[in-house]
Amino acid sequence: MFQVTQLIAAPPLPDWAEDVRRGLTASPRRLPAYLLYDARGSALFEAITQLPEYYLTRTERAILRAHASTIATHSGPAASVVELGAGTATKTRVVLDAVRAIRGSVAFHPIDVSRDALDTATRALGGPGISVHPLVGRYEDALPLLDGLPGPRLVLFIGSSAGNLGPVGALRLLTRVRRSLVRGDCLVLGADLPKKPGVLLPAYDDAAGVTAAFEKNVLVRLNRELGADFEPDAFEYRATWDARASCVRMGLESLRAQTVHLPALGLTLRLARGEHVETERSYKWSTHVQQQLLARAGFKPERVFTDARGWFAVHLARVP
Ligand code: AVJ
Repeated sequence: MFQVTQLIAAPPLPDWAEDVRRGLTASPRRLPAYLLYDARGSALFEAITQLPEYYLTRTERAILRAHASTIATHSGPAASVVELGAGTATKTRVVLDAVRAIRGSVAFHPIDVSRDALDTATRALGGPGISVHPLVGRYEDALPLLDGLPGPRLVLFIGSSAGNLGPVGALRLLTRVRRSLVRGDCLVLGADLPKKPGVLLPAYDDAAGVTAAFEKNVLVRLNRELGADFEPDAFEYRATWDARASCVRMGLESLRAQTVHLPALGLTLRLARGEHVETERSYKWSTHVQQQLLARAGFKPERVFTDARGWFAVHLARVP
């Protein structure tokens, strides 16, 4: 009897539960950005990429379209293309098509925390000459995979995802990617550039409220997957531009003093009115700083492509 009770009383915690505990007990409180991408979060992010205010995706897509054949040629052309944080990978089609046009065939390995997004990517991108091998996981889970792939390899880290990691995290990840590659392999880094807050802030706080719903969805996820009792309506989404750090800070402000329980973590939170829980940061580094980041990680930045307005940069870098 006693044993049975124990068996049903303790469902296994997801592997990210410790990150949640650490973040929510820190001061100021924060949640890891990768948790935003459950099935609903990934669908909401997809909707964000189509918002009039969110210039990033369409700008990067235009840059990739304009330079896909250069990227394909420079990469070898690559036998294996790995995309970190691929999502539905809609921007990747032009690159894969360009590689296939030269090589005849290419293996695509999209990695993402969202299985649903990867299912969409696999359905949309697989076809003659393009084999798709999805991997559900976080960026680090792609590193052991890289080793065994036929070269030349091309790693795509696009969509300005690096901006979520901050300078330390981005350098750490790029360094690890570099160490998993060999001489001649290539990296494409796509990252947003600093610009006036009048353009940046609407991109992260759209009129239709899609971004607010996306950021609040993380609370819904914690309720469902950790048995928490967040009231999403008791929070307001806020996006601010931190000029010193050069990042957009996104978070949820507690609209009143409230107590939240996370029984799976044995945690009770007392939030003050006005207290913030950070959900995301989106760093905006200049082209020069982005190149420094690549160089410090051990890559040789070879080309940088941008759009007419100079809003977004796509780097082509090589392992020397
Ligand atoms: C997927 C990290 C690139 O920072 O622009 C968009 C995430 N959050 N709107 C970004 C996001 C709110 C996005 N990245």
